[in-house]
This record gives sequence, C-alpha cells and structure tokens, in this order.
Amino acid sequence: MQMDRRTFLLAAGASAAAAAPPQSDSQRRLRIAIVGTGHRAWAHIQVLKALPEFEVVALADPTPQNLDHAASLVGGKVATYSDYKKMLAERKDLDGVIVITPNFLHAEVAEAALSHGINVLSEKPMATTVDDANRMIAAAQKSGKILQIGQQNRFNPLYVKMNELVRAGEIGEVRFVNGNIYRSDWYKLSWKYPDPKTGVATNWRTLTHTAGSSLMEDGIHEMDVLHGMIDSQVTRVYASGGNNVYLDRETIDHAGLVIDYESGVKFTFNFCLYGQGAPRTVSRLMVLAGTKGIMTPEGKQVSVRLHTGGQAKMYDTKDAAPDVITARNAGPDQDTGTYREYLAFANSIRTGAKPMVSGEVGKAAIKISLLAEKSLRERRIVTWNDLPA
Ligand SMILES: NC(=O)c1ccc[n+]([C@@H]2O[C@H](COP(=O)([O-])OP(=O)(O)OC[C@H]3O[C@@H](n4cnc5c(N)ncnc54)[C@H](O)[C@@H]3O)[C@@H](O)[C@H]2O)c1
Repeated sequence: MQMDRRTFLLAAGASAAAAAPPQSDSQRRLRIAIVGTGHRAWAHIQVLKALPEFEVVALADPTPQNLDHAASLVGGKVATYSDYKKMLAERKDLDGVIVITPNFLHAEVAEAALSHGINVLSEKPMATTVDDANRMIAAAQKSGKILQIGQQNRFNPLYVKMNELVRAGEIGEVRFVNGNIYRSDWYKLSWKYPDPKTGVATNWRTLTHTAGSSLMEDGIHEMDVLHGMIDSQVTRVYASGGNNVYLDRETIDHAGLVIDYESGVKFTFNFCLYGQGAPRTVSRLMVLAGTKGIMTPEGKQVSVRLHTGGQAKMYDTKDAAPDVITARNAGPDQDTGTYREYLAFANSIRTGAKPMVSGEVGKAAIKISLLAEKSLRERRIVTWNDLPA
C-alpha cells in the first residue's frame, strides 16, 4: 500500500495521539534490535521508549561500556551481544534492526539483517559508497522487507512545512537555494578505529574509510531536505574545500559547494567544522529563493517574504512529539524527526508501504556528498554520471 506524504503524516500523528498500548495481535509491539549502541543509539533508545509501538529486545556492540550503558537506558530485560552476526543467527523473533554503527558498517549490517528477513532502519548516511547503497537496495528487494534510511529531518515538522509551502507555490518557482552548517568539531568520545596507515586508534569520523566523508557525516541533513524540495535532476557538482584548521586528519573540515540542476536551479552549500566557539554546538541556516519570494526557517516558524514587499508571512509548524522527546538536549527538531521516522518505520512494517526515506532517497543523498568530495579532491567540476547509477 502506497501513501502520499501528507496522508502518512496524518496517519502517523493519529497513531501518536492514540498512545495506548496496542490491543490486537496484529498491533503487538514490534520487536527491535539495535546494532551499534554508541551516542546516537542512546538518543534512539529514548525515542523508542516513548513509543508504545516498539520494544527493544536486543542490543549488539563490541564495546562493553557502550553496550552496558545502552542496556541500562532500555531498562528491564534486554539481550546483549558483542557480535551482531551471532545475534542475527540466534534471534528469530525480530521485526526490525536499527543500524547505528559507524558509517562504513551500515551496508554490511543492513544486508545481513535483510538476508535474515528482518526490516531495517539504517542511520544516515546510508553507506559510504554508491555500490554499497545498491547492495542494500538489492538485499531489500530480494527479501521483500523494508529498508528505511535515518534522514530524520525529512520528518521534521519545520522542513515538512517548508516543503508543503514550496509545493503550494508560496515563493513561486524555486530558482536558488542555499544551506549552511557551521558546527563544532566531531565529538571526541566517538568510537576509535585503527588508522590503516599508522595502526593508531583514531576517531572514526576523521578517517575516510570509516566515515566516507565529512559532508556525509553532517551537512547531509540540510543537503537532503533542500534537495528534496527541488524537483529536478542534479547535473553537475563543483566543490572546493579541505583542511584549514584540523590538519592532522583525512576527512575535511570545510567545503563550499555549487550543485547545478537540469532546471537551472542552483543550490549552494557551505560546511564548516570550525564554525563554533563552544564544543557540541551547531547552527544550520537555509534559504530558498523563488520567482515570487524568499523562504527561510526562523526558530520553529517558516517565514515567506514576497518580492513585492509587505510584512513577512509567518507559518507555524506542528510538533507532534510529547515532552519527553522535545525536552531532550539534542534539540526538539532533531528528536521530533526521529520520533516521526519511527512512526513511519512502524507503519511501513505493518502495512508494507514503501518508506518515504527509501534506499533510493538515501542513495541520492550520499551521491551528492560523494560527488562534492570527488570534485574538491580532483579540483574539477563533476557530473552526476561520474559515479555509478
Ligand atoms: N541522524 C542523526 O542525526 C545522527 C546523529 C548522530 C549520529 N548519527 C549516525 O549514527 C551512527 C553512529 O554514530 P554515533 O555518534 O553513535 O557514534 P559512536 O562513535 O558514539 O558509536 C558508534 C558505536 O558503534 C559501535 N560499533 C563499532 N563496530 C561495530 C560492529 N562491528 N558492530 C556493532 N557495533 C559496532 C562502537 O562500539 C560504538 O559503540 C553514524 O552512522 C552517525 O552518522 C546520526
């Protein structure tokens, strides 16, 4: 059964409102396992605990302290495994596996879970190569199970509202788009991986092999939601960037991108990893300019200013998440998106509906990041066909 986005979000909202435990067998709680129980998984667990649709029954991670912390957050009875393959071999009761490992492992874990006939929600970025993304899509097709990608901002009410307003023609035809992310450096307590060159245990976010690219690790959120508002095919990507401040690592600390679309739309994007004074802070800015006016998010509202002048029109966005989610430190928008992405995942598992953030959507997002990375490293304009389809 296919649902359009609006119908789905209404259904999801109704499901949230009905926060009573499911009654019939077909509405029983969905049994979830998490593979990779580091920092992001701890936020997922808080969201899952607020959703009566799910119960977390198993966790897998080779790092004991992260596994133990995740188990304590779940509370109650939860099985723990140091090896996700053992978990998949033993557990025949799983409805879904959530993949929250470092990026380079998403494809391998997702493929294994799908081949065991288990639905998968994989964190962003979908994979670190287009070939890996294609393997994941093929595994989902073969198993007939759901593959959803964790680009949760597609569910964030702010961006859902912007998308609606774009489609309603509020700013006319979109012609120019800009996104920026100015953030602090990667979290120091991220998992460490032995640097293939030196053997030294190194933050996985600073190695190309484990992260894919900085643009994939962050920036992908803004690029994805804005790309989703542009109804055209990417033709060319030009990027400049590298390491200006954090010189002792493989992954870049800044980039400026221009993405050309078939329709003539230009999408410019800036990424800066030394863009904040305080640790663990981030600012994300966005503007869409069209033939009639300009749109930008302002706090929890969306503003539209017309070229003809007059007062800005301010649009409110609805926040469907309960306080337990919206009050969390990671920020209400982020977690509202995660909450809704789980409602979407539950809906897809129960109805077979193709996820809105499908493997194809995830693949397009990583492809834009990979093209930008290729462009800045090879110092040339690259085309969509410079990477596999
Ligand atoms: N959607 C978002 O907003 C968002 C935010 C933060 C992170 N993420 C994504 O979540 C993922 C994890 O990020 P994080 O911040 O939790 O990283 P982290 O470094 O805190 O944790 C990674 C965890 O993966 C575990 N791991 C390593 N190898 C494993 C294996 N073979 N099997 C199982 N687990 C393994 C590590 O032991 C560690 O516990 C990344 O893909 C990241 O991009 C998404």
